[in-house]
Amino acid sequence: MRKQIAAANWKMNLTLKQGEELLDAIMSKPHSLKENQQAVFAVPFPYLAMAQQKLAGKTNVFVAAQNCYSKKSGAYTGEVSVEMLQSLGIQFVVLGHSERREYFTESNQLLADKLNICLGYSITPIFCCGEPLHIREANTQNEYVTRQLEESLYHLTAAQVQKIVIAYEPIWAIGTGKTASSAQAQEMHAYIRQQLAGKYGQAIADSVPILYGGSVKASNAVELFTQPDVDGGLVGGASLIAEEFVAIINALK
Ligand code: PGA
Repeated sequence: MRKQIAAANWKMNLTLKQGEELLDAIMSKPHSLKENQQAVFAVPFPYLAMAQQKLAGKTNVFVAAQNCYSKKSGAYTGEVSVEMLQSLGIQFVVLGHSERREYFTESNQLLADKLNICLGYSITPIFCCGEPLHIREANTQNEYVTRQLEESLYHLTAAQVQKIVIAYEPIWAIGTGKTASSAQAQEMHAYIRQQLAGKYGQAIADSVPILYGGSVKASNAVELFTQPDVDGGLVGGASLIAEEFVAIINALK
């Protein structure tokens, strides 16, 4: 069975102490991760080492960075390389979150380069895609997402695509309290999988986890995650509340 993933995206929130307390609170609550399930914590860069240490030895629990740079090393003040992340034992990186695309002008091409460097270091990219509200209103979301996939992913080989995770995050549902209905989520996830099948074949497409993001919470996680093509969630706001995130982990199929 495909991997099912509950990924927390802390964004630019919490102090170090609050982050430590949150991880302790989550880990102290009963949660069960089956063999095909994973919990991933995308924490701010300064907390990666703390999180890595705190979660060491926990089965199916991983730490992720929220971004990385596209170059190997060098004079790029303020940036963080994949080699640095690898040296901390980090195994996942969130790439192309809509906030990075919007506020830091990350393009599909830059994201293609970031995907390449992550895969070169055996770090799993959680590649985010998804449309803004005006695109959804014009009912052109399929074309919009296809373009994101084409320009950032389609240069990858089948073997590489099998190593990535995709997160579909309709921008109009992020941090707005507005969730895509489970039917809307399923429809887009099935569409993305169909696109991948067209490019790489059904077996590859069937192996890629596709997470849903956008106001996932304890109260809607089961309904979203039981959709056949929804393989878990990338969770912002609700991942900052221990009881919420534990319930989201427990909602994985
Ligand atoms: P949200 O954020 O759960 O707060 O909507 C999701 C995300 O941006 O990854």
